[in-house]
Amino acid sequence: MNILSFESSCDETAVAIVRDGREIVADVVFSQIDVHKIYGGVVPEIASRFHIEKISQMTAECLRRSGLSEEDLDAVAVTAAPGLIGALLVGLNFAKGYAYARGLPLIPVHHIRAHVAANYLVYPELKPPFLAMIVSGGHSHIVLVRDYTDYQILGRTKDDAAGEAFDKGARILGLPYPGGVQIDRLAEKGNPAAVRFPRVHFKEDPYDFSFSGVKTAIVNHVHRAKQKGEALSLSDLAASYSDAITGVLAENFLRCAADHHQKTLVIAGGVSANSMLRAKLEQGKARDQRLYMPPLSLCGDNGAMVGAQGYYEYLAGHVAGTELNAYSAFSIENQLC
Ligand code: KG4
Ligand code: ZN
Repeated sequence: MNILSFESSCDETAVAIVRDGREIVADVVFSQIDVHKIYGGVVPEIASRFHIEKISQMTAECLRRSGLSEEDLDAVAVTAAPGLIGALLVGLNFAKGYAYARGLPLIPVHHIRAHVAANYLVYPELKPPFLAMIVSGGHSHIVLVRDYTDYQILGRTKDDAAGEAFDKGARILGLPYPGGVQIDRLAEKGNPAAVRFPRVHFKEDPYDFSFSGVKTAIVNHVHRAKQKGEALSLSDLAASYSDAITGVLAENFLRCAADHHQKTLVIAGGVSANSMLRAKLEQGKARDQRLYMPPLSLCGDNGAMVGAQGYYEYLAGHVAGTELNAYSAFSIENQLC
């Protein structure tokens, strides 16, 4: 089954064709980062406008690269939530029009489910149930994936997402947007023990996260040093800051896995590209636990992950009509249709 899939929830316009949920036939991603960089973050109206400008030609390009014709397509999948509402609506309406015009089933896909599904594209043996941690610019979740379309949230952030904390920290260090990858690179040369940034744990909710404190701490640290005229080591700060964020992520995830007797662990989302997080999970996991991490090319937003999850949504009968809407916020536990 060939699924044409669209992703436009934030600042990547992405189109892919995925076969049977597991094989990428073609995958094109246009990143708008260079545009939003000027503003230090994503400007929603500009994101929507670029999606509109790009999506049609990218669909043609994706088909061209796949070597398939439109007759070979069996369904259309699209990210319908969560994300920037204007940006989501561009992909959703394009997908709707495409599906209607060609008489194909329309499959709405939850963005965070799709991030998890990116792993299906590279690990043929990976099947639910497993425990997943999704860490991106907008989300930090620990989720029990009971089945391909059945999820239970066990931990979540009470305030900022891990990616947001990375981006804010990077900004205060004067690094360009998006800062996560910049901090990651700088951190490699720094001392993670140079500054002790706060690590928040909740007794009652041991798998939940909070990153607003660490964010404030780096802002205060930099301001104080500047006022006193002290020199700052950017690499030490990046390493210490990454250590604080990834330390809590890894600890909570591994603790949740142990408490719930989970042997299969999966990470996903933009922050799952972080080298310190990957190393901590590799080192910290038990011998009988298997850890799945997406290749860096599939950590960030892409269309292929939408096609992967779309396949399993289709098998579960989750096909929408033209009344389908987009939602800026939507729980991973709920069905879009
Ligand atoms: O999943 P994603 O591409 O978009 C959302 O769904 O939000 O995640 C983007 C986030 C950004 O905050 C970015 O800074 C962060 O992922 N990120 C990283 C790294 N690469 C991307 N954070 C830390 N280390 C990285 N290597
Ligand atoms: Zn994402």
